[in-house]
Amino acid sequence: MTIDIEFKPDFVSWRTEARRLLLAETPPEDISWVPAGEEQGRLLFGAGASADGHGQVGASTEIAKAGPATRVPRAFMEAAELAAVHREPRRWQVLYRILWRLSHGEPHLLDIEVDDDVLLLRRMAKAVGRDIHKMHAFVRFRKVMGTNPDAPEDPVYVAWHCPDHAIFRLAVPFFVRRFRSMTFSILTPDGSAFWDKKRLEYGPGVPEGMAPRLDDDLEALWCSYYGAIFNPARIKIKAMKREMPVRHWRTLPETALIGELLAGSDARVAQMMKDQPKSASAFVPKQAAELAELKIAAAVCAGCSLCHTATNAVFGKGPANARIVIVGEQPGDQEDLLAEPFVGPAGKVLNEALAAAGIRRDDVYVTNAVKHFKHKKVGLQRLHQKPEAREVAACRPWLAAELQLIKPEIVVCLGATAALSVLGRMIRLADERGRWLSSSWSKRTLVTNHPAAILRMMDKDQQAAAMAQFVAELGMVTGVGHQR
Ligand code: URA
Repeated sequence: MTIDIEFKPDFVSWRTEARRLLLAETPPEDISWVPAGEEQGRLLFGAGASADGHGQVGASTEIAKAGPATRVPRAFMEAAELAAVHREPRRWQVLYRILWRLSHGEPHLLDIEVDDDVLLLRRMAKAVGRDIHKMHAFVRFRKVMGTNPDAPEDPVYVAWHCPDHAIFRLAVPFFVRRFRSMTFSILTPDGSAFWDKKRLEYGPGVPEGMAPRLDDDLEALWCSYYGAIFNPARIKIKAMKREMPVRHWRTLPETALIGELLAGSDARVAQMMKDQPKSASAFVPKQAAELAELKIAAAVCAGCSLCHTATNAVFGKGPANARIVIVGEQPGDQEDLLAEPFVGPAGKVLNEALAAAGIRRDDVYVTNAVKHFKHKKVGLQRLHQKPEAREVAACRPWLAAELQLIKPEIVVCLGATAALSVLGRMIRLADERGRWLSSSWSKRTLVTNHPAAILRMMDKDQQAAAMAQFVAELGMVTGVGHQR
């Protein structure tokens, strides 16, 4: 006779039940796992209302505390945490069976790669990992104005996404790290999230019948959703049910179209995954009208592998109508953490030189050839590594898009990497610095030293001379003016 174990279908609840059952020596074949409120792997009301700000489940070794017989490898708990959000209906059963086997004479089970349970666990964990990555890479935000009563001037960036698996809670913290300084909301069928630059609120998912079909629908959906769900930041499930009774959710005429639409978007995404982007171009919005739009899109760029190790994509900063664009190499350690260009030691040297040349930093647009910090970890330190030519090329579409929008009169390249991106060729700094060159972006393109190179000079006299030359070369632009 089997016993029905009704539980909330998330990892923490399953783990609690599994621990209890394991202590009671209940074998897997005696259990039928009955996830409450789940339909085809999708929670009817999504992720619920808690606002832990992390979306993390508990420590993965905790099950080991249940007793000596229940010690399990950490690798299992990590894979189980991922598999728990897979839509495979057998996952709870399989997880418990593996747990049982690990603690009943098969401690090395996970090493048996051909074992059916292990195989399924691995496949689920891998699929979930890919799905999280896909969400990180392909969520696109749309700007909506005036819906945040606390800050009506502030835009809210809204995105709709339909992941393959219930990865929502695992995927959202990434967006908080990347978009810390923006107000945004992400809506999915499994849950919704609202970040107001301080606090993360989770709300219920968007019922499939309400899923936006056009970009414009997203705005309308957000406006009604914000009122119903996040303002005053409390879930109103009853109100939602009243507006659209649950019994109709699966039979609304528009749901037929959604399947088609989502299938289409899945195919597009699959194609993009297959194409393995080697460049940022797949991430650059084709008709961006504003730098802010580019910045949002760049934040989730996965056009090269540098995005995996950097904290933030560091986009350019400055007036959209700047006459001068200054291009550096790539963000450094502090820029990476603060998501702003030239705010660390090299930025200090740049500020000094600009001031000495009579240029207000606020008047120029400052950006980098590569938007992610390339570095090597040595102990606690993150040491700068020069980006390779292929990384400069992969990131070039962002710089091109910035320059295309700004149309500056003058482009200043700080060092050879910036020159490579702007001029499209390798240069010898000594040969080409300090004179006007022509690039696709401006007939007045100037190459000068990188402030970090000056910073690294050990000899004080040499350093002072280099600084003087840097100031003089920056001074070449002052005759042209700073802002349109
Ligand atoms: N060096 C650069 O090239 N860019 C920065 O933003 C900081 C340091």
